[in-house]
Amino acid sequence: MQKRLFGSLKTPLSAIGLGCMGMSEFYGATDDAQSHSTMARALELGVNFFDSADIYGFGHNETLIGQFLKAGGAARRTQVVLATKFGIVRAAGQYERRIDNTPAYVQSACEASLKRLGMETIDLYYCHRRNPDVPIEDMVGAMAQLVKTGKVRQLGLSEVSSASLRKANAVHPIAAVQSEYSLWARDPETDMLATCAELGTTFVAYSPLGRAFLTGVLDKASLAANDFRNMLPRFSGKAEAANQAMVDALSRFAQPKGMTNAQVALAWLLCKHPHVVPIPGTRRIPYLEQNAVAADFALSAAEVAELDAIFPPDAVEGGRYPEAGMVGIE
Ligand SMILES: NC(=O)c1ccc[n+]([C@@H]2O[C@H](COP(=O)([O-])OP(=O)(O)OC[C@H]3O[C@@H](n4cnc5c(N)ncnc54)[C@H](OP(=O)(O)O)[C@@H]3O)[C@@H](O)[C@H]2O)c1
Repeated sequence: MQKRLFGSLKTPLSAIGLGCMGMSEFYGATDDAQSHSTMARALELGVNFFDSADIYGFGHNETLIGQFLKAGGAARRTQVVLATKFGIVRAAGQYERRIDNTPAYVQSACEASLKRLGMETIDLYYCHRRNPDVPIEDMVGAMAQLVKTGKVRQLGLSEVSSASLRKANAVHPIAAVQSEYSLWARDPETDMLATCAELGTTFVAYSPLGRAFLTGVLDKASLAANDFRNMLPRFSGKAEAANQAMVDALSRFAQPKGMTNAQVALAWLLCKHPHVVPIPGTRRIPYLEQNAVAADFALSAAEVAELDAIFPPDAVEGGRYPEAGMVGIE
């Protein structure tokens, strides 16, 4: 597995990370034993960058990772670069949220995450969503305090604007920005990718497989009633049909190359930018193994341009989130 080490990052990251969210919530039934096996296989494959958040499964995801780390002893802890996030507050079972960026909350959320993870230091700590009522300098000041006291190694922000990243980076180096980025979610191309390159900030691409839509193998009709994707505008009605046409074109691109759609979607991100690290999410070893080798495929500049043309950003139908999910996205 190639590693990526860019700008102010203190630890090399596997070029393909592991998104752990679906192991606790959002994409149907979960199985802790299966998730632990997937994490173990990830380490065998050199996938060392695990992504979590305090809100995934209301703490379940961090507890699950904490159990995995504990079972592997001190050696396993040093193998994993663990990223987690604070800032989204939801009532149990609810999707609607409020965003808390107050310095007191930053401190208490970090303590709670450390406890669930069973760790002394979080490798990368992100603000998950912004609340503009708290000046970003105050929030990042509180996050920087966590670095000073050794509770956190490096700082990150999720779904922020370039202007916020610049202000934050002036207070403390921001090692990573994490936002949605994939063939069908191209907002970061407007200016965020360039700002990250300029400031030495790694760009972590979440939902790089379009929450499985881009893979071409998701059976949307069989999603569980509570699957989050049922709420997403891109997955429903006329939008779904329009977006499926682009995914069909992606399949026609991938198949003659002996690649899966997922591998093309990940290779496209890696070949396009040296400072981007995708974190595909999966609960299953076969998908993990398939995704991990995507780092070995080299797409030419012409192939990258061909893929850009298959997914013109204006042609993608439907928003990324329902209205409630847009809260805190800059
Ligand atoms: N910062 C944020 O606000 C934010 C928001 C969303 C996500 N994230 C992070 O980003 C990570 C990744 O995003 P995501 O999980 O939303 O979306 P994703 O990685 O685009 O897609 C995950 C979905 O794709 C399926 N999948 C994975 N590999 C596949 C393959 N090779 N072939 C077919 N299907 C495959 C998974 O199935 P199975 O689960 O069944 O294996 C899952 O349903 C999350 O786990 C989370 O850590 C962050």
